[in-house]
Amino acid sequence: PTTREYYWTIDTYSGAPDGFVRQVYAINGQIPGPTIEANQGDRIVVHVTNLLPDGQSIHWHGIDQNGTQWMDGVAGFTQCPIPSGGTFTYNFTINQFGTFWYHSHYGNTLADGLYGALIVHSVNDPLQRGRDYDEERLLLVQDWVHDMSEVVVNALKSPQGYKGGILPPEGDSILLNGAGVTNCSDTPGCTTPSPAEIHVPVGKSIRFRLINVGSYDFLRVSMDEHKLEIVELDDCPIYGPTIVETGVNPGQRTSFIINTKHGKAGDAFWIRASRGIGCTGEHPYIGKAILRYVNHQTKHTNSLPRTSPWPGLAAPNATCHDLDENHIVTPRVAVDAPTDILTTVELHSQLGKFVDVTGAAFTGFGWNGTTFQNQINYPLLQQIENGLTLNSSLVAAGTFPHVGGGEIIINNLDPFDHPYHAHGRAFSIVGRGSGMLSESESPGITLNLTNPLRRDTIHIPAKSWAVLRLVTDDPGVWALHCHLGWHLSVGKMAALVIQPDAVRNFQQPADWLGLCAGTDPEAFGPV
Ligand code: C2O
Repeated sequence: PTTREYYWTIDTYSGAPDGFVRQVYAINGQIPGPTIEANQGDRIVVHVTNLLPDGQSIHWHGIDQNGTQWMDGVAGFTQCPIPSGGTFTYNFTINQFGTFWYHSHYGNTLADGLYGALIVHSVNDPLQRGRDYDEERLLLVQDWVHDMSEVVVNALKSPQGYKGGILPPEGDSILLNGAGVTNCSDTPGCTTPSPAEIHVPVGKSIRFRLINVGSYDFLRVSMDEHKLEIVELDDCPIYGPTIVETGVNPGQRTSFIINTKHGKAGDAFWIRASRGIGCTGEHPYIGKAILRYVNHQTKHTNSLPRTSPWPGLAAPNATCHDLDENHIVTPRVAVDAPTDILTTVELHSQLGKFVDVTGAAFTGFGWNGTTFQNQINYPLLQQIENGLTLNSSLVAAGTFPHVGGGEIIINNLDPFDHPYHAHGRAFSIVGRGSGMLSESESPGITLNLTNPLRRDTIHIPAKSWAVLRLVTDDPGVWALHCHLGWHLSVGKMAALVIQPDAVRNFQQPADWLGLCAGTDPEAFGPV
């Protein structure tokens, strides 16, 4: 194992990823941020300096942080924010492999540009370069909004809502690897950028690691004239279907393999990412990048693709379902779900009228009747360490007191679909259905306990439920939230408290404790 050390500075710039000039946030001036590539077992050390006027934190999405929970990077949960002008060092070992990413976990400033890919290789990965595929590429897709995230969140939390309602912005464009095209016609200073290009060798098989880093849109992704063999969901290697398009919800990852055996150097094809309407909005829109075949001998031209989309792409009102909702997927490493369940936690995800800590009423998203109100400078982790019980009027929490099998029943009572993400683990998806499932009815449900799909972010349709199983071997206070950043930032966040007695023995490093020193524990801040 190696230690990989990085120095990051978060700052604000003027940027125009899709042609429209706005203020953006970036890590070392880059959107997407620097890619971290590591091997299983490596130690990652990232010195993050925050030059923004407001606080910040960085979360390592999908990394289990077992034994280093204070490095999970959730401001108000597992740390105090890195103050303006301050530096904090994240330091943790990665014991997993697969496709992960990182992003800001302070408000929804992720949507201003603070994210990047985190790829972990391993000899234990059943998908091996050189055997299962020749090369790999990244494909980061997202909806992109022209308003700053703070403007959107403040509006959503106001009685008037954003543009008059509870619905978050429909994206202004779709970015692929940080580039997109907005309609520049009536925007002064707007120049349409070139699409992102991904170069691949001819006659090979290429693994794409697709990550939806957006805040709202389920995205359908296809590559003209190439079929996609699905081989990984989040960080779970699977045997999956070979299909003409796949879909990915915010927070989720999908690896697929294409082959470039039927073309020559210079050939170019559109990669398409389009909004899955019906679950997150009403208007279809599309983003494109170029897939170009190259080889070292022939100089290729920069011509635009003249390809056409696969026939058979789903209708524009395709549902936003996860692959396992309409295809058979089988994890390549067989692991059965825990069967001895010590604790079941039931969470109802429900839209409601809430009153925030200032007394203002707003329509927001909550869990078990509570919308999360973030005591930003008194992390929930520290509250548990100090022997407190979490205040149920500020956060909905489920507690797993012991090591062993645990179960979470999520009822999505909202009229909207949501991608739910649990920190600290991939959970086993052992049951899904429509309607509502109460804990007392759940013993009557047939569960799939034999090698179920394991992932950290699951799409649950409107008015539907899912049963998740986990092993509660990682003491901590773990976030569970909707990964639509606009829903998260208006309170759709709950806490899973695992082994609170063990949490009380945590000993954080001095620089972690220093982040909270001198700050007001009574203060509330962005989610
Ligand atoms: Cu990528 Cu709390 O999430």
